[in-house]
Amino acid sequence: MYSATVPQCPFSPEDTAAEEARTPAAAPEEAAGGTPTLSFDRVTPYVGYAGIDTLLSLKRTRTDEPAESAFILATQVMELLFSLVAERWEGARDALEADDVPGALAWLRRAHDAQDVLNDSWKLLADMTPNEFARFRGAFGEASGFQSYGYRKLEFLLGHKSAAMIRPHRAMGGVADELTALLERPSLYDAALRLLHRRGLPVPGDRVERDWRGDYEPSAGVERAWEGVYADDSPGHDLFLLAEALLDVAERTAEWRRRHLVAVKRVLGAKRGSGGSSGLAWLARNAERDAFPELWSLRSAL
Ligand code: HEM
Repeated sequence: MYSATVPQCPFSPEDTAAEEARTPAAAPEEAAGGTPTLSFDRVTPYVGYAGIDTLLSLKRTRTDEPAESAFILATQVMELLFSLVAERWEGARDALEADDVPGALAWLRRAHDAQDVLNDSWKLLADMTPNEFARFRGAFGEASGFQSYGYRKLEFLLGHKSAAMIRPHRAMGGVADELTALLERPSLYDAALRLLHRRGLPVPGDRVERDWRGDYEPSAGVERAWEGVYADDSPGHDLFLLAEALLDVAERTAEWRRRHLVAVKRVLGAKRGSGGSSGLAWLARNAERDAFPELWSLRSAL
């Protein structure tokens, strides 16, 4: 049982298209014959429910270069998956705050599946050549994944926080508010450390209560607390399972960054990024940064 609130279904009853689609005028003989319904007065329930026509209208290419369409699609697919991963990490964080470790493990397992699909999405761009990329790059101007608030949300949930990273989204009040709320509350990792503390492990006081807006810095005391968890690696030890499930999150996160880096190296080389950074060198620095650092560093001590 999860203590987290269930995310609201995007196709709420106020959605007129979805509502209309729920009242198909199916011909009775078709419905009764064991074959699919073929007659609808309005847009099919499927299209209405999942917003398919709206979805497909979003593939708005700006050039005649065929590879641009795969680039836009890959970006959109990844944004959708960023939001699914965020939902599941938030579920895990809320469960940890409610001392519900089995609930947190269930959310994390689902998040792993979503992260795997997210990482596999890079295959959509695997065969793009530098020439193809160069033919549409000018068309998106200063647009850059760096401006993705979905990705920033994930970074904040991991504990990689920076108030400056909210600045690009100032013009979108709701987004900036959402990011600020995440900045100001414990991350998924903070929630795990606070749970360890409640379970009697020696988590340093400055990790149990602190200014949550600060970026997470590694701590020797936290590493020792995790060592205490790893002292009992029996399959039924919930905190050990939690540590390994968090490490699975961190590993998948590193994998997304690695694949991004390779894709950039392949199509852009060392040219500057459209978002204003030095490009590859800047991304390589970010990719080096581990999520949940003590879960990695403790491996040298075990
Ligand atoms: C293969 C084509 C791509 C290239 C050449 C590329 C290039 C870059 C570069 C150079 C940056 C650094 C910021 C800048 O100066 O622009 C960046 C950041 C970023 N890109 Fe991409 N990108 C590509 C595909 C994608 C896709 C498909 C996504 C999915 C949404 C994405 C998401 C991001 C994110 C989230 C960042 C920020 C990373 C951070 O803050 O550490 N990129 N990209």
